[in-house]
Amino acid sequence: MDAKLIQWTPSLGTGILWQDMQHRTLIDQINALHNAIRAKKGAGQIDPLIAFLDSYVVHHFSIEEKYMDRYRDPEMAHHVAQHTSFAKNLAELKTYRPAQGELAAESLCYDLYEWFKNHILSIDKRLGEFLKAIGEK
Ligand SMILES: [Fe+2]
Ligand SMILES: [Fe+2]
Repeated sequence: MDAKLIQWTPSLGTGILWQDMQHRTLIDQINALHNAIRAKKGAGQIDPLIAFLDSYVVHHFSIEEKYMDRYRDPEMAHHVAQHTSFAKNLAELKTYRPAQGELAAESLCYDLYEWFKNHILSIDKRLGEFLKAIGEK
């Protein structure tokens, strides 16, 4: 049986439906990469995961930013800066590929886990609270 690096529970969510659904999609991808690494098949997951992240960065980040803009979120500049930094790191990963093979898979998994802890569980949760206070669901 696969062991999940990140086990979803409602406490991880923001309570905003679209945001939680999209975050869970990313968490599924992180868990799949982690399982592939455990099976020494992580390297083969890098390209499909990068393709997923390319789309995620465009769609998910733009939706969060659209809501921040619509409701004049005072934290918007700081939040968007983190999104921009993630997108820049992704572009650099695609261009330079500083590590190869299983090492690259482990590095990507670590970076995404850090993103989960430091962005999704922090600044995205705050955005969720902000939106719920306005009446969004
Ligand atoms: Fe998010
Ligand atoms: Fe975000």
